[in-house]
Amino acid sequence: MLTKEYIRDLKSNGNGAIGQLVKDFKDSRSLTFILENLGHLPKDFDGSFLPNLLTHKNASVRLWTIKTFGKLNNEEYLSTLEESAIKDTDTTVRREAVSSIGRMRSKKGKQILFEILDDADPKVVCQAIRGLLVFKGDKEVDEHLQPLINHQNEMVRTVIYKEFFATHKTLSNQPHCESYDYLKNVIVNGDTVETMKLLQDESIHLTFTSPPYYNARDYSIYPSYKNYLEFLEEVFKEVYRITKEGRFLILNTSPIIIARISRSHSSKRYPIPFDIHPYLVEMGWEFIDDIVWLKPEASVKNRIGGFMQHRKPLGYKPNSVTEYLMVYRKSTEKLLDWNIKQYDWDTILKSKVADGYETTNVWKIDPCFDKIHSAVFPVELCKRVIQYYSYKGDLVFDPFGGSGTVGKTAKNLGRHFLLTEKDETYFKYMRSKKSTGMFDKFPTKFLTLKEFKETIK
Ligand SMILES: C[S@@+](CC[C@H](N)C(=O)[O-])C[C@H]1O[C@@H](n2cnc3c(N)ncnc32)[C@H](O)[C@@H]1O
Repeated sequence: MLTKEYIRDLKSNGNGAIGQLVKDFKDSRSLTFILENLGHLPKDFDGSFLPNLLTHKNASVRLWTIKTFGKLNNEEYLSTLEESAIKDTDTTVRREAVSSIGRMRSKKGKQILFEILDDADPKVVCQAIRGLLVFKGDKEVDEHLQPLINHQNEMVRTVIYKEFFATHKTLSNQPHCESYDYLKNVIVNGDTVETMKLLQDESIHLTFTSPPYYNARDYSIYPSYKNYLEFLEEVFKEVYRITKEGRFLILNTSPIIIARISRSHSSKRYPIPFDIHPYLVEMGWEFIDDIVWLKPEASVKNRIGGFMQHRKPLGYKPNSVTEYLMVYRKSTEKLLDWNIKQYDWDTILKSKVADGYETTNVWKIDPCFDKIHSAVFPVELCKRVIQYYSYKGDLVFDPFGGSGTVGKTAKNLGRHFLLTEKDETYFKYMRSKKSTGMFDKFPTKFLTLKEFKETIK
């Protein structure tokens, strides 16, 4: 029987034994098992049985054969690897072959990788780039790589941009984890765009918001859907500017329905999350995740009633029990690790998310109803977003403050908040709920736009 131990013994017993074993076991599963368990190979390992396996019909066998070639790190096999890199029918095998060529770090290998830069498969091209980046600074290598900034594939362009052309320096002199005191725990009664224009670049750490839904409520009347999307575009451009490098925007929206004007007309549905997405990506927000907020069916408007009666196809109208939380990150060539490393160890420890966190992108949370505001966030929703996407002491922003749920939750979680809310009724409502802790370092400030301007002079 084939066991890991048996394979290991044969390997150390001497050359040729593994080659014989491979001849004895011809089925794909056994061959993959043998190759997978070869582990580290001695320098003088006889790999003469390997080239035959490269024509095996099973891609997994070919992949492990290539990996074994890679371990041998022998320039003699370069042309065999080149052939697999160019001709194999499986993209994973081809990438592995390119990777093995790259790992050899040889002059001849470099020339092969130059050829592979013209490959039609962008993943193979990226692998070749990775192999060549080991020689970054070598004139010939740089001259082959830099023109790929105009490559038709976006992944290729992004890698080349980051390696050779990225110039982004943080636009603010402020340390990444800090924020201005005059923005901490402030609620401004004013238009959000007008207010944001007063803020410096890179002032906030996280934005969580639910914009007014197109013409669905009294506070959200726009002349046209296009006009509405352009308003949101302006808002999120400003949010982008005032967000710190590599930090997040979590946008809660859902498709809405505008009722028909009479029985002889249809109602119209507007897919807001999908229509706003291209605007966000265009202005530089990088799409990270889509989280679905799932509500109990009994809590949403009943649309299925008619269908339940008539059961006629085409007239199916399911109850909408979901909303989206679209997660975006301000574009940067830096990895998330960079953002995390800006915090001291104590803050990282204190901000760690406790057990019981959500593990999927479907969040089952009951909606919340309020007697004054018609569209408030449930506290649980805010809690999750703030805990998963910010650190203690961060500044959390909600451009559409409403009843102030984001602010209240941020403060309870040891973060600071900044809210803007245009409607005086809701501003006053937030003020009426004001509670001040005796030891608040930054007690909540309720300011008109004019007063806010004064504080930041
Ligand atoms: C969907 S509600 C947000 C509710 C909030 N998430 C909560 O938990 O209470 C949207 C809010 O945006 C406000 N709003 C609409 N246009 C605005 C603008 N241009 N500037 C600031 N606030 C605005 C509305 O008055 C409304 O209260």
